[in-house]
Amino acid sequence: MGERYVHIMCAELTPTKVLLVVHHTTSPSLQELLEAALDGTHADGIEGVEVRVRPALAATAVDVLAADGFVLGTPANIGYMSGALKLFFDNVYYPTLTAKIGAPYGLYVHGTLDTTGAVRAVESITKGMGWERVHEPVLVMGAVGKDATEAVWELAATVAATVADIAGSS
Ligand SMILES: Cc1cc2nc3c(=O)[nH]c(=O)nc-3n(C[C@H](O)[C@H](O)[C@H](O)COP(=O)(O)O)c2cc1C
Repeated sequence: MGERYVHIMCAELTPTKVLLVVHHTTSPSLQELLEAALDGTHADGIEGVEVRVRPALAATAVDVLAADGFVLGTPANIGYMSGALKLFFDNVYYPTLTAKIGAPYGLYVHGTLDTTGAVRAVESITKGMGWERVHEPVLVMGAVGKDATEAVWELAATVAATVADIAGSS
């Protein structure tokens, strides 16, 4: 009985960190990338991380305030990130401006021709919010193959592992 009590106490004291996946998923290609990302967040050895998944149009400042790290996914649209992801940033920028300084994040972008503007825009905003890029952006053009899903998996696993390390040190 006493031992059981100790177990329960330890479980309650172990901090669960939150990884927020904010994505705009508009096609089967983007759905494949999202699924690879979600798979990566559950890579072997990652513990104590709760993954919350929000479409960009539904993600809020409250979601950001509750999170310890971020995976962002967007199509390239007219030389920029999607309007949906931009709206997400418009909504959360000032309410969370100094709340998540140093939080790890990773970005994947899907396009057909040129994703440069999308990456530049996301990096400029996340820099303003003090988020720390912990993996190179993953840029996927056209048909989604194994290389692309593996790269996005790796990106998400890296962010999740970084969040888990934070969990271990707090
Ligand atoms: C209005 C519009 C603008 C787009 N602009 C870009 C762009 O600037 N750069 C790019 O690489 N792809 C662009 N695309 C392609 C989308 O990124 C692509 O359709 C999306 O990632 C989904 O890919 P899929 O249709 O092959 O699944 C654009 C698509 C649309 C509909």
